Amino acid sequence: MKEYQDNNWDRYYQKNWNTGKNSLPITKIIMNNAKKNEKGFYVGLGTGRNAIPLMDGGWDLYTSDISKVCISRMCEAFPQYQERMKRGELLDVYKKVEQFDYAVCSKVLVYDSKINTVNSLKKLKLRIKKDGDLFFEFPAIGTDIWSNWIDYSMTINGSLIVKYGENSASKLYLSFPDLCSVMEQAGFKMIKAPISVDLPRTNFPGGIVRDWVGVAKSM
Ligand SMILES: C[S@@+](CC[C@H](N)C(=O)[O-])C[C@H]1O[C@@H](n2cnc3c(N)ncnc32)[C@H](O)[C@@H]1O
Repeated sequence: MKEYQDNNWDRYYQKNWNTGKNSLPITKIIMNNAKKNEKGFYVGLGTGRNAIPLMDGGWDLYTSDISKVCISRMCEAFPQYQERMKRGELLDVYKKVEQFDYAVCSKVLVYDSKINTVNSLKKLKLRIKKDGDLFFEFPAIGTDIWSNWIDYSMTINGSLIVKYGENSASKLYLSFPDLCSVMEQAGFKMIKAPISVDLPRTNFPGGIVRDWVGVAKSM
């Protein structure tokens, strides 16, 4: 994916490594639904705001991130989880675990278009057992966009695609119908109706970040 080749996340984390953020609502959903004796694949570790509380709580999670900076900082800060924090994407990590019982996708794998998002979720599906759960938290339409956008478009179902910089990939804010069709096309069936959650846009007081949070099953 473009993001991986461009090292955008490495550049971002070199300037903004913020470990003080609260866990997202997805963490509670996982705590209430995933069994501790099952193996979970967490894609896109980031600063660990969701994955660390889960691992501390005893959930058997294996995390990946494409960013070298992220993985080296996280391994340094949490050496006890080194074996559970690998640099890589979807198919190139934890090859000994053929399929996980469930996967977690928080603010990751939603790319600049529906088709790229479907394709990345299809790849993730290969790592989950049939009937395994996908816990997700994805960017939703209704989020207050940053004011420095340079271009935008809208899908027929009302998702917004916003370009923020010439050299960065556009961001897709999913509408409810597009979220459902992306999931279905990637081979997942919604089992807990997605709900929208609003979080404060901390660097843009008054603004909101809206996400879809839910659980889907791999068909
Ligand atoms: C917006 S952050 C979200 C981090 C974390 N999941 C959270 O909710 O706080 C996205 C993270 O996913 C990583 N990432 C992006 N694409 C990825 C991919 N295809 N596979 C693994 N990690 C990826 C980025 O490097 C970044 O750390």
